[in-house]
Amino acid sequence: MFDFLFNSSKSVERDLSFIGVDMHSHLLPGLDDGAVTLEESLHYFKLMKKWGYRKCIVTPHIFQGVYNNSPETILPVFKSIQAALVNAGCDIQVEVAAEYMVDESFIDTVLNQPKHLLSFGNKFVLIEMPFAAASPYIETAIFNLVLNGFTPIIAHPERYSYYFQQPQYYHRLIEMGCLFQINMLSLSGYYGKSVKKMAINLIDQQLVSFIGTDMHHLSHCEAIKAFTKTKEFYKLSKRIDLKNNTL
Ligand SMILES: [Fe+2]
Repeated sequence: MFDFLFNSSKSVERDLSFIGVDMHSHLLPGLDDGAVTLEESLHYFKLMKKWGYRKCIVTPHIFQGVYNNSPETILPVFKSIQAALVNAGCDIQVEVAAEYMVDESFIDTVLNQPKHLLSFGNKFVLIEMPFAAASPYIETAIFNLVLNGFTPIIAHPERYSYYFQQPQYYHRLIEMGCLFQINMLSLSGYYGKSVKKMAINLIDQQLVSFIGTDMHHLSHCEAIKAFTKTKEFYKLSKRIDLKNNTL
């Protein structure tokens, strides 16, 4: 399928239709550190369509005290974007979920209001942890999500450097019932060499199920545009048993 990509020494045309569905991005405007305006948001969705995606599952941050989002703040913006896409003639499916910071507030939601969780696909819930230190709530979160029939998807596990010295912990997360989503920019070295190395390491161990853009802003967009034109990106992606297209 990808032979034509490898037979050329030149950079190739970008075609991400083999991924099909992006399930991690911050393209809804004004909700977090992602897109700011409606126009910016529409620009990104049009690009995603042009790159070959058929669906974007947008995942605004829900992070108590930083991005105080909830279904009440997110869903109206989602509906306005859906209408704007129709008006703009941009034929891409958009679904909404969230990227939950695993903190005390998240545990409270999981324990007391699991039906309020913004999930996608087969009851998937995208969760993240701080970059500075592991969340003390991670195992409680995973245990109770699984107990309620959800499957936690760990966002960009390759970016949590505190696990680099205990790589066996990645296996524990999987054994507890998580799936892993890596960022495509991690493979490019955008976040540094050690993150790239861990992303490849996780791929080699067949621990990765999803790849996401985690697109926030124009610099991500430009970096994704450049990296997805490289043969390295396609070679690495081909080594993942991607589940994006099942969503
Ligand atoms: Fe994100």
